[in-house]
Amino acid sequence: MDKVKVGLLGSTGLVGQVFVKLLDKHPWFSLEVLSASPGNAGRKYGDAVHWIMDTPLSRETSEKKLVPAEPEYFKDVDIVFSALPSSVAGEVEARFARSGLVVVSNARPFRLDPDVPLLIPEINWDHIRLAERQSGTRGYEGRIIKNPNCSTAILSLSLKPLLDIFGLKRVTVTTLQALSGAGYRGGVPSLDILDNVLPYIKGEEEKLESEPLKILGRMSGSRVEPAGFKVNATATRVPTLHGHLESVTVETAEKPTGEEELVEAWKDYRWPGEIKRLPTAPSDPVIVRAEDDRPQPRLDRDSGKGMSVVVGRVKIKEPGVARYLVLGHNLVRGAAGNAVLIGELYAKYYGLL
Ligand SMILES: NC(=O)c1ccc[n+]([C@@H]2O[C@H](COP(=O)([O-])OP(=O)(O)OC[C@H]3O[C@@H](n4cnc5c(N)ncnc54)[C@H](OP(=O)(O)O)[C@@H]3O)[C@@H](O)[C@H]2O)c1
Repeated sequence: MDKVKVGLLGSTGLVGQVFVKLLDKHPWFSLEVLSASPGNAGRKYGDAVHWIMDTPLSRETSEKKLVPAEPEYFKDVDIVFSALPSSVAGEVEARFARSGLVVVSNARPFRLDPDVPLLIPEINWDHIRLAERQSGTRGYEGRIIKNPNCSTAILSLSLKPLLDIFGLKRVTVTTLQALSGAGYRGGVPSLDILDNVLPYIKGEEEKLESEPLKILGRMSGSRVEPAGFKVNATATRVPTLHGHLESVTVETAEKPTGEEELVEAWKDYRWPGEIKRLPTAPSDPVIVRAEDDRPQPRLDRDSGKGMSVVVGRVKIKEPGVARYLVLGHNLVRGAAGNAVLIGELYAKYYGLL
């Protein structure tokens, strides 16, 4: 089988490095082109990157020359993954899509636009068709497809079975977000975060209160009808390395009879089989732990190679009101891993293989 050629924008950052790790030995994709900021263009990847992954960087990728973030250098690839900072992503990604390239991006711009798919393939793979409108709405020859905010991806996976089985009226979530969520360069200074919890992350609560409604919404014709519940979010930064932990209280339309019924909803949920067969999909998108002291970032973030979220501490607080904790790997399910899964969905759906 000929591999699908892919490129990567923002390859030297934290999310970029996870992409490189996931794409290095990917069964369908071959990573052909890498770029970083203008100051690093022309340098070898291995010289420009401060590699902090737990697996060695391959010699082949290390020797690759970084190119500028310009479409002309990517014209031979089928999919471009983007791990650009939000401040530059909007303009660069639009330029790529205008020139005919398909961009799967982690950055915030366009996420809530009606013609842009915001995908967690297990939940809403069928929203991928939204991007077909972009030739008419934006004059793009290519397409932009978005990955959700990291905390949103983790929360939404845990909500999907509850929404389908019990219906949701209200969701209240407090996040305890790891340091790697803030990136490497320009991340949180150690003197601010050691021995501390920061009670505010700019823009995060707004994303948590809006993105899940689009992801969990239904396709109606060529549009998404947003889900009809409310989300109230509080986002905090804590001194863990990777893995966002979230305390979630849900008010459901139907009242589960007890914790066992909630746990069964997650355990027995039938995620789409076509998606489960994609190479990066975990066998269980949601894992439930029964122990009182789980989930924990250090112990649970690598579940399903970082693609599963782990639910625990499930408790009915009053009839129709339940509380649980959910944890997920912010750089994998919350970023590069989910984006690679979107790339696999795109390749399969549009016959690139
Ligand atoms: N960290 C997470 O958990 C997470 C989760 C979900 C989504 N995201 C999103 O993913 C994106 C990347 O996040 P990150 O944490 O990996 O950030 P990061 O560590 O700051 O990396 C940014 C990357 O973009 C490159 N870059 C910077 N300015 C550029 C420019 N003007 N032109 C071209 N390339 C440029 C950098 O190259 P140099 O090395 O040359 O500077 C680097 O490769 C952001 O949009 C972020 O919001 C992050």
